[in-house]
Parts: sequence; C-alpha cells; structure tokens
Amino acid sequence: MKILVTGGAGFIGSNFIRYWLKKYPNDEILNLDKLTYAGHIESTSDFAENPNYKFIKGDICDSGTVDSVVEGVETVVHFAAETHVDRSIVGPGPFVVTNVIGTHILLESALRHGVKRFHHISTDEVFGSLELDSGKKFSEKTIYDPRSAYAASKASSDHFVRAYFQTYGLPITITNCSNNFGPFQDPEKFIPRMITDLIEGRDVKIYGDGKNVRDWLYVEDHIKAIEAVLTKGQPGQTYLVGGMTNDISNLEVAKMVLKIFDKDESSIKFVKDRLGHDRRYAVDWSKIEKELGWKPEHDFDSWLEKTVSWYRKNEWWWKPLKKESEKLYAKMGQ
Ligand code: NAD
Ligand code: DAU
Repeated sequence: MKILVTGGAGFIGSNFIRYWLKKYPNDEILNLDKLTYAGHIESTSDFAENPNYKFIKGDICDSGTVDSVVEGVETVVHFAAETHVDRSIVGPGPFVVTNVIGTHILLESALRHGVKRFHHISTDEVFGSLELDSGKKFSEKTIYDPRSAYAASKASSDHFVRAYFQTYGLPITITNCSNNFGPFQDPEKFIPRMITDLIEGRDVKIYGDGKNVRDWLYVEDHIKAIEAVLTKGQPGQTYLVGGMTNDISNLEVAKMVLKIFDKDESSIKFVKDRLGHDRRYAVDWSKIEKELGWKPEHDFDSWLEKTVSWYRKNEWWWKPLKKESEKLYAKMGQ
C-alpha cells in the first residue's frame, strides 16, 4: 500500500512513520512536510534511508505539489497542521491557512485521484471546555464548541472532511485525540517544556492556578488508534481517542515530573494564564474500544519517566528548538 503522510516531520507524524515502516515493511510511505518551525527533519533521521520511505518538502496549501504527490496514493494520513494554542493566540492567520485551506486542498486532490481512505487527525479541543469536577466527558455526540483559534481551525477542517464524505462520497475517517506526550515532542509543549527546563536547571512554568485538566495519552497509543481506524474503521466515521489519566491537573503533572528529577515544589513558577484557557478535557473512548478493540496500553506514570529519560539522552535533538520556543514565551511573559 502507498500511504501519504502529511506533517511527518512533526511529533506524532514522525512517530507514526517509524511505527508503520517497522510493522508494515511492504508499505511505501511518502512524507509531505513544509518543515515549518515545528517540523524537524532530525526526527526522521533513523528511517530516512529506508527504501520504502520518501521525504518531500512541500506545503499542503500548494495544490500543484499536493496533486503530484497524491497521484497513485491509496491512503492519506493527514497530520500536518499548526498545532500550538499559544501561537494561535499570538497569530491566528497561519492556523486558518494550513488547517482549513490546506486540508481543503488535500481533500480536493484526494477526490480527484480516487484515494481509498482519507484519515484526518483531529483533536478533542474542538469540543471546547468541560467544568472541573463535572464528571462529564467528550464523546462522538458532543456538540462542537471550539474556543481558541487553533481549535476553531481544527473544527472547521473536521467539518470540511465530513462534508467531502456526505457530498462526494470520499471515504474519510476522523480521530479526535486528547493530549499526547512522548519522544520528539517540541519543547514548546507543556510536558517537554517542563522536562527540558529542569534539565537546564530552570523552574517549570505553570499557567494560572494550575488546576486545568488534560487527558494524557502516550503517543504510541494514539498511533495504534489510528492503525485500528485505518485497518478496521468504517468510512464516514469519527472516533474519539483518549488516555488513562483520571482528571489529573497540570499542577499534579508538574509535581510528578519534579519527583522524577528529585525536586520539590520550590521549582514551580506560576506565570500569567493563557487567554481563554480551556479548563478541563476528558475523553470517552468507549466507541473505538467497542467497535475496533482499541484501548490505551501505556500507563502515564512509567511512560512519563521513560519520556524524561528520552529527553535526557537526546539533548542533541531538543537543545536548538528550546531556544526558539523560549523566545516565544519571553514575548508572552510566560
Ligand atoms: P507538530 O506541530 O509537532 O507537527 C506539525 C507538522 O506539520 C510539522 O512537521 C510541520 O512542519 C508540518 N506542517 C505545518 N504546516 C504545514 C503545511 N502547510 N504543509 C505541510 N506541512 C506542514 O504537531 P503534532 O503535535 O505532531 O500534531 C499532529 C496532528 O495531530 C495535528 O493535526 C494536531 O492537530 C493533531 N493532534 C495533536 C495532539 C497533540 O497532543 N500533539 C493531540 C490531538 C491531535
Ligand atoms: O488536547 C489535544 C491538544 O493538546 C492538541 O490538539 C494540541 O495540538 C496540543 O498542543 C495540546 O494542546 P494543549 O493546549 O492542551 O497543550 P499544551 O502542551 O500547550 O498545554 C497543556 C496544558 O498545560 C494547558 O492547560 C496549558 C498548560 N501549560 C502549558 C505550557 C506550555 C502550562 O501550565 N505551562 C506551560 O509552560
């Protein structure tokens, strides 16, 4: 099978390609990535020479490039996006362009070339924010209520993807996943930012009161969910994907990371809150469990420790990126 992965030099995309090439050695993977500030060719170095893998530097908003790459492809796995909420607060424009227009250009091309499956990677953030301690969870039936420009752009892309199924019969599937963590995540994101700050001897930064809740999933579990949908999922369907953490606050996550470093709470610095900061995410993943037999396998505690070890061993990868992300936070006062 010939698969087009978009955004395969990013965090989840590069982990997906590594996993897929190993498990399906007869498949061919094309990786179309613009290498924005978030795309790191170094994240692909261990599989770059695989004869079944090809990297194409290009923009999903460039229909000529997209058309030439999609020709002959059976499956599209679409990760490419602007992904950082804080950046969408500073400058929403690129989120509209890549996440909405870029997705539309890919859909058009997939339809023209008779792609057999268009899998769109989306987020639980499209559903908005839940109340703390409400016990509620997002499900496939939850009404969209995006509250950041990032979430609004992903919500819009989800609607376009579904419209191409309803109107033109393009065989699409969508996964809306919760917060991932693991190797090769840019140090601009919460967990790797804390880990790399601690390795460099700085305090960890907590937005607001630290009571915000995220639903954490180890990246390989997300990839296995995508695999389940690609191999067993029904065209036109959406599946929510989430982790095993049970209402763990950012402050509690920070304390766990500090414990791994043998540090106490004096290494926590509370900083300005994120504008429009979503309070709580929690995902009901019973549909994908019931219908496709997927469930998370990697527990948070031990895979958080393994993730810390990975960052300790791979300073060559994150050191140059850290400088860039901290410039952004300095500007934002965070
Ligand atoms: P990332 O920011 O690490 O990587 C994004 C990749 O897309 C980069 O390699 C970048 O160069 C590429 N890209 C950006 N704009 C492009 C364009 N116009 N053309 C081609 N390539 C472009 O992102 P990630 O965290 O790996 O997220 C991947 C996908 O998963 C996104 O769609 C995101 O919305 C979704 N998602 C992420 C999470 C998470 O916790 N990280 C959770 C749920 C869903
Ligand atoms: O829910 C899925 C989403 O998870 C994905 O769609 C996004 O692409 C991904 O970036 C992530 O979004 P979040 O905004 O939840 O992740 P982030 O790592 O930026 O922040 C996680 C939480 O930690 C959030 O409540 C903000 C807080 N935070 C973040 C940073 C960077 C801090 O308290 N301190 C920090 O330094």
